[in-house]
Amino acid sequence: MIGIVGLGFVGLSLAVAIASKGYTVIGVDIDRGKVELIRKGEPPFHEPGLREVLGNTVGEKLHVSDDYRDLMDADVVFICVGTPTLPDGRQDRRALESAIHGLAEMYSEDRGKRFRVIAVKSTVLPGTTRELAQTFSKLSGLRLGVDYGFAMNPEFLREGRALEDTLHPSRVVIGCVDDRGCRVVEEFYREFYGRVGHDARILLMSAEEAELVKYASNLFLATRISYANNLARICEAIDNCDILRVLEGTGLDPRIGTHYLRPGLGYGGSCLPKDVKALKHYMEEKRVDPALPEAVDRINETQPLRAVQWLREALGSLEGKIITVLGLAFKPGTDDIRDSVSLKIINELLEEGAAVRVHDLMALKNVRRIYGDRLKYYDDPREALRGSDGAVVATEWDIYRELGPEDYAGLMRTPVVIDGRRIYDPWRFKGDSRIRFYAVGLSRRYSGPS
Ligand code: UDX
Repeated sequence: MIGIVGLGFVGLSLAVAIASKGYTVIGVDIDRGKVELIRKGEPPFHEPGLREVLGNTVGEKLHVSDDYRDLMDADVVFICVGTPTLPDGRQDRRALESAIHGLAEMYSEDRGKRFRVIAVKSTVLPGTTRELAQTFSKLSGLRLGVDYGFAMNPEFLREGRALEDTLHPSRVVIGCVDDRGCRVVEEFYREFYGRVGHDARILLMSAEEAELVKYASNLFLATRISYANNLARICEAIDNCDILRVLEGTGLDPRIGTHYLRPGLGYGGSCLPKDVKALKHYMEEKRVDPALPEAVDRINETQPLRAVQWLREALGSLEGKIITVLGLAFKPGTDDIRDSVSLKIINELLEEGAAVRVHDLMALKNVRRIYGDRLKYYDDPREALRGSDGAVVATEWDIYRELGPEDYAGLMRTPVVIDGRRIYDPWRFKGDSRIRFYAVGLSRRYSGPS
């Protein structure tokens, strides 16, 4: 039997994936509302395929509850609670500590009856898992490696592909605190992926190494994006340069590759921004020069403001100007707006007195919750553009690709178009004299081959 603590994006995806392969799974979350929704087969967030697998497993192999005591019979408990960043940059461990307390209180009651393993899936800084194990021993009176095992098991899943990434991961990293616990987690994964039919690469290492693998992966991904965006600035500053061509010419070197190098208005979401900042803070604490995460983060923080600079350049003061932001989710295919670049752009535009209109396929509701009637919300991008002075494509939803220069020129009052995600053929837009067109990483003057 498998237990899961925290039924967010990571925990719920793992719970349904495991249950769908015949394991009995108990998922616990302290949010009663969320538990009720899941019990009814309603995913609390959007994730492709989740509703269907949840419908097939909940009440059968998957049980959900808000009471830790329901985890009594679990052999392995995965902790999947959030570890957000506090305002001072430190990691907020409160949810994690409360999970450890909850589990310790319950398991202290039945010493020696069963060897259980607690595996931390939450993203935590190196050293945290071992500290949590010590806390657990102290609170429960149980002995590490004898009565219980403890492990670190980071996740690498992408939103929008959570189920797919859970069922077919590129690797499974298991960080060991005690040997016995580590083997139990390894055995579980071997058996689970055997049932899935996926030949999983399972790597065993120390808990600290596993903790660092997660940050190292996200720092590398974020670095690739900030690399593309920083080079894009050079292209914008000179003539006859398009970042897409530069990156193609670079990425064909197999040592570099072309993937995950799309220039844009910056990265957002629940992982990359937070993990880069947390690593930077952690390095400072350890007196290691955080030169790399610092630069990657700085590039990303200023990148969304490019859109506002271009609007100002084209329109002068933004006071009273009508600006349409197309796309609010941090990437297409999700309603998640955590650390979305669109919000940074909207805040800046509101600050400068612009009248801001917004469109998104999934995230309007979440944005409305933050901004209320300070923005105008649209279900149709064409309506959002009608009569506006500037438009920014901030998320690359496919529906925006269908808009051509004639749409923008025909609908807008002063067609200033900013392609913040490089979804358009710039030559079609630049060829239309009615439009003032800007794109990330594209020179204003270009006389090269088109
Ligand atoms: C990411 C990691 O991919 C995943 O392994 C980790 O576990 C969690 O963080 P996710 O946040 O779902 O996953 O999104 P991802 O698809 O990686 O995109 C993150 C952000 O980077 C988005 O805002 C996206 O628009 C941006 N991005 C991505 C770029 O700007 N350029 C790229 O080439 C790729």
